[in-house]
Amino acid sequence: MSEELESVLNESRIFPPPAAFVDKARIAGWEALQALREEARADHQGFWARLAQEKLHWHTPFSVILDDSRAPHYAWFTDGRLNVSYNCLDRHLADKGGKTAIIFESDEGATRHISYAELHEAVCRFANALKAQGVEKGDRVVIYMPMIPEAVVAMQACARIGATHSVVFGGFSAQALKDRIEDAGAKLVITADAGHRGGKRVELKAAADQALAAGCPTVEKVIVYRRSGHDVPMQPGRDIWWDQALAGQGDDCPPEWLEAEHPLFLLYTSGSTGKPKGIQHASGGYLLNAVTTMEWVFDIQDDDVFWCTADVGWITGHSYVAYGPLAVGATQVIFEGTPTHPHGGRFWEICQNHGVTIFYTAPTAIRALMKLGDEIPERYDLSKLRLLGTVGEPINPEAWMWYYEVIGGRRCPIVDTWWQTETGAHMIAPLPGATPLKPGSCTLPLPGIEADVVDAEGNPVTEADKGGFLVIKKPWPSMLRTVWGDPQRYYDTYWKQFDGRYYVAGDSARRDQDGYFWIMGRVDDVLNVSGHRLGTMEIESALVAHPRVAEAAVVGRPHEVKGEAIVAFVVTRGGRPSGEAADALTAELREWVAKEIGPIAKPDEIRYAEGLPKTRSGKIMRRLLRAIARGEAITQDISTLENEEIIKQLQGEA
Ligand code: PRX
Repeated sequence: MSEELESVLNESRIFPPPAAFVDKARIAGWEALQALREEARADHQGFWARLAQEKLHWHTPFSVILDDSRAPHYAWFTDGRLNVSYNCLDRHLADKGGKTAIIFESDEGATRHISYAELHEAVCRFANALKAQGVEKGDRVVIYMPMIPEAVVAMQACARIGATHSVVFGGFSAQALKDRIEDAGAKLVITADAGHRGGKRVELKAAADQALAAGCPTVEKVIVYRRSGHDVPMQPGRDIWWDQALAGQGDDCPPEWLEAEHPLFLLYTSGSTGKPKGIQHASGGYLLNAVTTMEWVFDIQDDDVFWCTADVGWITGHSYVAYGPLAVGATQVIFEGTPTHPHGGRFWEICQNHGVTIFYTAPTAIRALMKLGDEIPERYDLSKLRLLGTVGEPINPEAWMWYYEVIGGRRCPIVDTWWQTETGAHMIAPLPGATPLKPGSCTLPLPGIEADVVDAEGNPVTEADKGGFLVIKKPWPSMLRTVWGDPQRYYDTYWKQFDGRYYVAGDSARRDQDGYFWIMGRVDDVLNVSGHRLGTMEIESALVAHPRVAEAAVVGRPHEVKGEAIVAFVVTRGGRPSGEAADALTAELREWVAKEIGPIAKPDEIRYAEGLPKTRSGKIMRRLLRAIARGEAITQDISTLENEEIIKQLQGEA
């Protein structure tokens, strides 16, 4: 039996919401969820307008709900004004000022509790510091920080004064940082002397210096948080320590009342071409869906301790660390380190010590921790957990069952949340007190989200279990607004395929006989490595930038823990290397890619050949390369290849 078929058959398992969970849930039971869906179906705009009024604080109420006059550049709540930071902080002060907003645990294990009042004060002071450094509404600020509360302070401070932030993941290289700073045209960069992860120091300031030395003419100032305490060079006139920037700044910083469409942030993500695109999000609509999903999908309650393990460098760390949990006044854990340092029980120890009730992580982490054995989590008291979540890639039923049984003690529903950088918030996901679960399925679209699976002509695929393109048929508040500086690319990437009618996610999916969605993977040249998106072209351009590389093609291959492994096929200048010379070049190229993009993009395997298989029109035959990387039999017609010998070389047989 094929693996695919087996997984379909296995997944007749259905897990209805546990009665004890339903009793206390915000949306309790299937009927309550259906009522929301019906409300949205009957009046899509009215539904979102009602929620926007109920869930957000508006300084100026909106009268326009959806402006579709420039579709597919949709705009929401256009004449309303609000401030995201006010919504996340100020509005809780009266009754929750003393409540813990953030429980921080450092890589070394030191903990800090920060109340809403303290966080508000820190954000206001830092916002004043940004203004003193010349940052104004509309300016772009790049944040290149470790996973520490100050990263959230920096993001919230930008939001408070209307500066548009762009967080660059601390694991990205100087080169990647430079590209993003330049594309965003950032005026100021916020970084740290270094970050600490898994017992190692990540030299953030050194990377920032390198990026700035190589270009970035728009950057005027760099604010440096002292995390590590080791010496780093500071450039006079440009660099200023975080503490110095704060000196003399008061904690009164009235929020800027911004238009709902004001760009809250840019976040760069990989696409089908070599250049990452700056996904631009707005303020009002983005925050609305961050809040509704915190309530619907995470069922957030006042006494919960919420922990989303994502770094603020990714969209998950924006919506479910920096904004969503604060907007609903929740207590959340922020952890600087890695799941297995200094031991494989670190995540479970944190859950136990801080009384985590809702835990949200990626399948790659679950699979890695599952491999370490059940004895490790069994050492910890995980009884406070009541809800588990996953994001970033499909979760295989085996990992789902392990998560459910060993971590959740068969008591915690699992919310498998499908969404993207572009969607801003969960799109297809269960409501834990309402939706019966099937391991491996993200279940059904949320209320107000019109997701579907369509064929190449754009017609709905009605046959059960037949694959097609995943599309969203109606605009939703937290959708991306454009690709920064490139509206044509926005149209071409997300709308062109169906003439502007549907948002095209770039994933393939199928629906089963109950209408449940099963995500099958990307249809474009995007890899999903450990839940992170990487463009094959991006890695290819990094490889060909190396003097020894003439041509490169990169494909994915299934990997037990990471989801996908990166396999590169390389044609070198000056003859095909073999033996030790090949090994040495492989090591060099892996380091090279780490330097060009970041360690996550390092190829797992590199194979050398005298040429790459191409079609008559000169296109690299990627499907063939994928089959070769997986060690599968070749079913394509290769009779037109000029040099069949290279297939043997790529297969490692010659
Ligand atoms: O392929 C889908 C996969 O991750 C892609 C989005 O990646 P990114 O923008 O980096 O955002 C990740 C965090 C939201 C999607 O196009 N993906 C995300 N969540 C799931 C998923 N695939 C299957 N199941 C999921 N729950």
